[in-house]
Amino acid sequence: MDFKKKILCIGAGYVGGPTMAVIALKCPEYRIEIVDINHEKIKQWNSENLPIYEPGLEEIVKKIRGKNLFFSSDIEKGIKEADIIFVSVNTPTKTFGKGAGMASDLQYWEKTAHQILKHAQSDKIIVEKSTLPVRTAEAMERILKSNSRNIRFEVVSNPEFLAEGTAINDLLEPDRILIGSHPSKEGRAATDQLIDIYIHWVPREKIITTNLWSSELSKLVANAFLAQRISSINSISALCEKTDANITEISYAVGSDSRLGSKFLNSSVGFGGSCFKKDILNLVYIARSYDLREVADYWEMVVTMNEYQQDRFVYKIVKEMFHTVADKKIALFGFAFKANTGDTRESPAIYVAKKLVEEQAIISITDPKALENAKIDLKGLKNISYEIDPCLAAKGADAIAVLTEWDTFKHLDYNKIYRYMKKPAFIFDGRNLLNHKELYDLGFNVYPLGQPDLNHFE
Ligand SMILES: NC(=O)c1ccc[n+]([C@@H]2O[C@H](COP(=O)([O-])OP(=O)(O)OC[C@H]3O[C@@H](n4cnc5c(N)ncnc54)[C@H](O)[C@@H]3O)[C@@H](O)[C@H]2O)c1
Repeated sequence: MDFKKKILCIGAGYVGGPTMAVIALKCPEYRIEIVDINHEKIKQWNSENLPIYEPGLEEIVKKIRGKNLFFSSDIEKGIKEADIIFVSVNTPTKTFGKGAGMASDLQYWEKTAHQILKHAQSDKIIVEKSTLPVRTAEAMERILKSNSRNIRFEVVSNPEFLAEGTAINDLLEPDRILIGSHPSKEGRAATDQLIDIYIHWVPREKIITTNLWSSELSKLVANAFLAQRISSINSISALCEKTDANITEISYAVGSDSRLGSKFLNSSVGFGGSCFKKDILNLVYIARSYDLREVADYWEMVVTMNEYQQDRFVYKIVKEMFHTVADKKIALFGFAFKANTGDTRESPAIYVAKKLVEEQAIISITDPKALENAKIDLKGLKNISYEIDPCLAAKGADAIAVLTEWDTFKHLDYNKIYRYMKKPAFIFDGRNLLNHKELYDLGFNVYPLGQPDLNHFE
């Protein structure tokens, strides 16, 4: 079949895979190819078992794979043939040299630019899909313009706002599509080509066009604002525990204000995921590099508060279990950084598990989708077991700590679980997910976040 346009995506991860699957679904006249240096991942994308779990993804991939959606390891051929190249490689926090622990590690990004430069034989539009420090497009352009073959590359920014766990829905019904480009004729033409793609299913008024730098920075700012709300409500949960105010009631009362809205106001053991921490730290680093100390300090506190919340949760478990968890079995309900994903990157569960092991607790972990990743994250640590069945994870345990808000945890037979556990039996609900009164009535000592404890002790 003759395709109207050939689109390549470099990077077949949590963003590249779902994003391109939805574009292919909605634009049958475009040929979409996704490439990756990780051959194993490409094999999985071409198999029955996709490398990532995302509700609705498998159905879409199976419907259009081999029709206009292709996964391949042949990066060179992909670059040669493509009209438009999306780059959605990872941009983790730098772990070495200047800016270690703060700045974005742009080595994967830069390698991609060199690959494109090496293999391209015709003009191309390069789309920044990865989250990048503001003004990265400038560096990309410098690399790409260093060719003597008279090939023109137009770099545009099109950050991705999907959330893991709801990625397909977010892609099908985005709040907005953001496209940043140079104000030149070529920049506007490149923007029009991207609009041509999204207009297949996104209303025009939801497609925002800005200058390149606003687009790059908007993505960092959006993540910083979202994380800031979580840290804000978590800071108040600590105050609630001192004053007998109830964080759930406060979230509802505060979130009912139409100026604030109710989303991202649930108190929890802290935010995780590959993006929030890295993007805020990147923002902090950028602000510092422009000598904006107050701006940097302000945003850095969002991360500090998140670490405090995780610490507070572990400390509470140890304190309430009579100041020791040594040789006690603690079942961790959930390991993914949020529900409906198997992703455990920066999950608070990693921190909690490691700290409890340091305290010599015996840990059993249950999670519907994240056990394989949990095994990798905790490799080498002793006294940890993994159970797909939550009842078995809780068998003989002294305590349960809820770390991920999986809906299935709400509907377990806690009467049976209580009978399976040692007494006194504790539940520490790090997501305020469960029905605390019912659990208390069954005999559990219940410790929610930011709410009065329900315990049977005198
Ligand atoms: N995960 C999210 O929820 C999310 C949401 C919005 C934006 N983002 C941003 O999108 C980008 C990608 O995130 P992700 O979660 O998909 O990362 P990921 O690690 O899941 O995927 C990145 C992929 O890029 C591949 N890769 C790296 N260098 C390559 C190269 N030179 N050639 C070909 N492939 C290469 C890696 O092998 C990997 O499979 C990041 O910048 C991230 O901040 C992520």
